[in-house]
Amino acid sequence: MLYTDKQYKRFTVTSALPYANGPVHIGHLAGVYVPADVYVRYLRAQGADVMFIGGSDEHGVPITIKARKEGCTPQDIVDRYHKIIKDSFAEFGISFDIYSRTSSPEHHATASAYFKKLYDEGKFVEKVSMQYYDEEAHQFLADRYITGTCPHCGNDRAYGDQCEACGTSLNATDLINPKSALSGSKPVLKETKHWFLPLDQDEPWLRQWILESHKADWKVNVYGQCKSWIDAGLQPRAVTRDLDWGVKVPIADADGKVLYVWFDAPIGYISFTKQLKGDDWEKWWKDQDTKLVHFIGKDNIVFHCIIFPSMLHADGSYILPANVPANEFLNLEGDKISTSRNWAVWLHEYLKDFPGKQDVLRYTLCSNAPETKDNDFTWKDFQLKNNSELVAILGNFVNRTLVLTHKFYGGKVPGRTSGTPMDDEVVKELATFPERIGRSIEAYRFREALAEMMNLARLGNKYLTDTEPWKLAKSDPERTATVLNISLQICANLAIVCAPFLPFTADKMHRIMNLPAMGWRDAGRADLLMEGHQIDQPELLFEQIADETIQAQVDRLLRTKEQNALNAWQPAEVKDNVTIDDFGRMDIRVATVLECTKVPKADKLLQFKLDDGMGGRTIVSGIAKYYPDPQALVGRQVCFIANFPPRKLKGVESQGMILSAEDKDGRLVLLSPSDLVTPGCNVG
Ligand code: MF3
Ligand code: ZN
Repeated sequence: MLYTDKQYKRFTVTSALPYANGPVHIGHLAGVYVPADVYVRYLRAQGADVMFIGGSDEHGVPITIKARKEGCTPQDIVDRYHKIIKDSFAEFGISFDIYSRTSSPEHHATASAYFKKLYDEGKFVEKVSMQYYDEEAHQFLADRYITGTCPHCGNDRAYGDQCEACGTSLNATDLINPKSALSGSKPVLKETKHWFLPLDQDEPWLRQWILESHKADWKVNVYGQCKSWIDAGLQPRAVTRDLDWGVKVPIADADGKVLYVWFDAPIGYISFTKQLKGDDWEKWWKDQDTKLVHFIGKDNIVFHCIIFPSMLHADGSYILPANVPANEFLNLEGDKISTSRNWAVWLHEYLKDFPGKQDVLRYTLCSNAPETKDNDFTWKDFQLKNNSELVAILGNFVNRTLVLTHKFYGGKVPGRTSGTPMDDEVVKELATFPERIGRSIEAYRFREALAEMMNLARLGNKYLTDTEPWKLAKSDPERTATVLNISLQICANLAIVCAPFLPFTADKMHRIMNLPAMGWRDAGRADLLMEGHQIDQPELLFEQIADETIQAQVDRLLRTKEQNALNAWQPAEVKDNVTIDDFGRMDIRVATVLECTKVPKADKLLQFKLDDGMGGRTIVSGIAKYYPDPQALVGRQVCFIANFPPRKLKGVESQGMILSAEDKDGRLVLLSPSDLVTPGCNVG
């Protein structure tokens, strides 16, 4: 029996459809899938009628760009990532009732029919506008396919929708010197027709529905974003695009046009319901006693709170979401997670690196979920959560209880006699947990719910520490039996209330304790285990994670950082102009290396003896790291500055400076003439 949502007969729970242009990472998990999964697992434990929808979002321009880059089709891209995403979700225990995809024919049919109905009913506004067209590629250009110079900061690699250097969002027509990413040619403006959802007309009911009726129950971050969108004045939104990847616009005269990805993707929730439920689908979307809840990240708020609802409203037969518990973002080790910079912990890689440890990540992400503000994931914290919470609190309590039960009673649950006030107090407290945890979950406060679950394990630990049954066994067998009986009841309760968060651990506890299937209604009771019930040999629920394991992950991220720095390398700015006279004062010449040795006690320095055509000179240069075999340089020619004042380096007088190029990774490379020249000749 639910504590707050009693009026609903069933729950339609959706989670944002991830774009199938990359794998899923911890940011997606913490923001969307872990909370959604906790919610639905809890509802199921409550015996509620729940449907949990997921799937891949397989349309949109970025997928076409990626395909073009890799020289394959968009379908190849989405096939690859859909499989990775779907398999990793399954292994991670995200318990979708269906995980489908928007490139499926069923989805195309549903999205297409949805558009057609609104079109036939005159719900769209048709508009002709000017859009960039690539005359060589014979295509209209999506904003992302146009690059040019940002009018705000001068960055010459800005996109038609945004400048990533200064963060400004742009219109393609704002760009200076626009260029097509398809052919490199200069695009021309050309007329094109599109269909718009007149959001401006929806403002009154949206204002009433969100800003008035959901002021109290929607999260402040969600409410706040909606309010600023509505207050800024809603504009008509184009729901079609000139593109050849997506759901074709199902009307005459719309060749080369598809539905905008943000129009078709949320319809995926509906088409997947049809795939799952067949003819029985409608009540999940149309009955007033169905609660519709969308789990999303904060960048999806406007689409799920304003645009999709106005699509549902335009059709007229659908319910609207009762809540949209969007989360903020999760950062990784202090930096924004980024797919293109490979700055992420990828789910499929985590599963490979930490087999069997799904619950550790689920626990860390849930306890650190960015519910009200952005949050940071660090590997150190992950280790700490495992070692000092899962192992030291939950695992430790259950293990101690089961080990003692085996030690004293051969694994049979001992009987309980009337207890002390302390026993009664613990039993009474135990009974209060399920409701506290449940109410928090129903209010989308998953961190709080998880913390309460751990508090139950803490209660158990404290009880064992206070009663010390290992000392009582000889002197007071009756009391030992009572204490262990109560501790075992707490273990059985933990198996129920940890299940939404830690499903793998819950299964293990059920198996070890031979528990029957139980629901939330069973939780809180201190008689779940009957006297004489046999318990299997204990197994550790969690194991310590070692420093080396964590260091390996941190090292991987450091390597990514280095790689990113290399990728981002650009030649330095050209310096201020100099005159020919300035240059003439530099005396640059060529010399031949006669000897080259390491400078003792200076690991960076090489000492060169040069034939400079003027009687020879010695120069010390800081390139030892890049030339581990100095002997091999003998006979090579180098360029050097001859009129540098001499100076002492580690006791050696250096008479000039040898020239080298600094590569993007910081490596220094000697400059030599491409043909042998006479030592002492000038460079200029
Ligand atoms: N693919 C989108 C994203 O990752 C989410 C789509 S949610 C849906 O931001 F409602 F459109 F399906
Ligand atoms: Zn800019």
